[in-house]
Amino acid sequence: MDDSNSFVVVANRLPVDMTVHPDGSYSISPSPGGLVTGLSPVLEQHRGCWVGWPGTVDVAPEPFRTDTGVLLHPVVLTASDYEGFYEGFSNATLWPLFHDLIVTPVYNTDWWHAFREVNLKFAEAVSQVAAHGATVWVQDYQLLLVPGILRQMRPDLKIGFFLHIPFPSPDLFRQLPWREEIVRGMLGADLVGFHLVQNAENFLALTQQVAGTAGSHVGQPDTLQVSGEALVREISAHVETADGRRVSVGAFPISIDVEMFGEASKSAVLDLLKTLDEPETVFLGVDRLDYTKGILQRLLAFEELLESGALEADRAVLLQVATPSRERIDHYRVSRSQVEEAVGRINGRFGRMGRPVVHYLHRSLSKNDLQVLYTAADVMLVTPFKDGMNLVAKEFVANHRDGTGALVLSEFAGAATELTGAYLCNPFDVESIKRQMVAAVHDLKHNPESAATRMKTNSEQVYTHDVNVWASSFLDCLAQSGENS
Ligand code: ADP
Ligand code: F6P
Repeated sequence: MDDSNSFVVVANRLPVDMTVHPDGSYSISPSPGGLVTGLSPVLEQHRGCWVGWPGTVDVAPEPFRTDTGVLLHPVVLTASDYEGFYEGFSNATLWPLFHDLIVTPVYNTDWWHAFREVNLKFAEAVSQVAAHGATVWVQDYQLLLVPGILRQMRPDLKIGFFLHIPFPSPDLFRQLPWREEIVRGMLGADLVGFHLVQNAENFLALTQQVAGTAGSHVGQPDTLQVSGEALVREISAHVETADGRRVSVGAFPISIDVEMFGEASKSAVLDLLKTLDEPETVFLGVDRLDYTKGILQRLLAFEELLESGALEADRAVLLQVATPSRERIDHYRVSRSQVEEAVGRINGRFGRMGRPVVHYLHRSLSKNDLQVLYTAADVMLVTPFKDGMNLVAKEFVANHRDGTGALVLSEFAGAATELTGAYLCNPFDVESIKRQMVAAVHDLKHNPESAATRMKTNSEQVYTHDVNVWASSFLDCLAQSGENS
């Protein structure tokens, strides 16, 4: 068996999205999202194996190795898996529930069955490729049941689970009709990791509550024992399961490969600024087009600042790049049309011929193009209602190591616990976003030393806690976990 098979990552998505052409050939493009950004460099370093969905329906290519040495094992999803497991249970049930009900989750038993079946499919694929005693790292909310299934199929494996999105308070999680099975699935791992201590505490509190529930199906009632407290990058919290296993729980804030987000080429930045007509202030937003990201709210804040004269249309522009995401789901469609309507309205009100005030792209850009945008931007706007971490904030900060620029950041993004030099806003309150946008612009102009100190505090944090720190702290804790109590 290939050496890659002693370190296996399993995630819903592979790092590449495949498109099948009529002649049966495939083309590939990078797949969206922070999970892929975080894990790709880790897999490249370990020359590991990545089991996941290639973005196609009903077909998938044979396993192959990428140019960077990662062995990819595609898992085939059918059209009905895609609807029930991906669009349904993962993204219309778990996603809104775990993001504190920004929209109402749908509880649908058919979707739940699809979720169970597809989790079984992923676990079987891992079970077939993983070497004896391999380390298997299961990723994110789409695969919550995989640790438990794998534990039964392959007790020889060392299993880690990491959640890339927030974990909600027990009061919200308990809405889920299938809550016991999900907790039991997660507890199949030797180590369960979250971004934040708060997420880990929510999980521990939930475990305690579910364990105490009469008639619970999680082990036997009162047989789960929780001890210790959730810490960052080390383990003191444990859950003892009915079968005598000890599951470790901790917080491991994800980060980025800082090498990839240094400053962009000067000439490319100058060209862009010239195209934009040399504005005094460039605001920037870069997101998946997701209703959790608060894109509409930041557009409204920009519009109101133009309206009040706090910003001048001749001097400020907002660049908004939005990657298409989950486009068939209702709330995503609504969110896109609200964003696009606002862009049209704001340009109609404040733009001139050849000089829009909002430049909007609904597509993915290359890392190079993103870097040019990050370098050209004065103020980055990251305003999610709720976000596990938000790597865009860290990418911008890494790009401004020289202390230029300012970051306006939602207090509900995981990154807010680490990027203490950001201008923190409450995205539910447009006045708060406006205040922090104005404060950032004011400091850049009139208080540059203070603005630079803030940005250097942010970039120091990211450079000293990059993606290698994230992965190695998780994997070291995983190596030490899982001993019987
Ligand atoms: P999420 O995982 O919810 O999408 P993150 O901010 O954590 O949010 O990660 C998003 C990742 O996707 C980042 O690495 C960012 O660079 C990348 N990204 C976001 N928008 C685009 C885009 N339009 N083009 C290319 N990459 C993008
Ligand atoms: O971390 C958030 C996340 O949902 C990942 O799990 C996912 O791969 C990424 O964003 C992009 O979402 P999707 O895979 O649904 O396009």
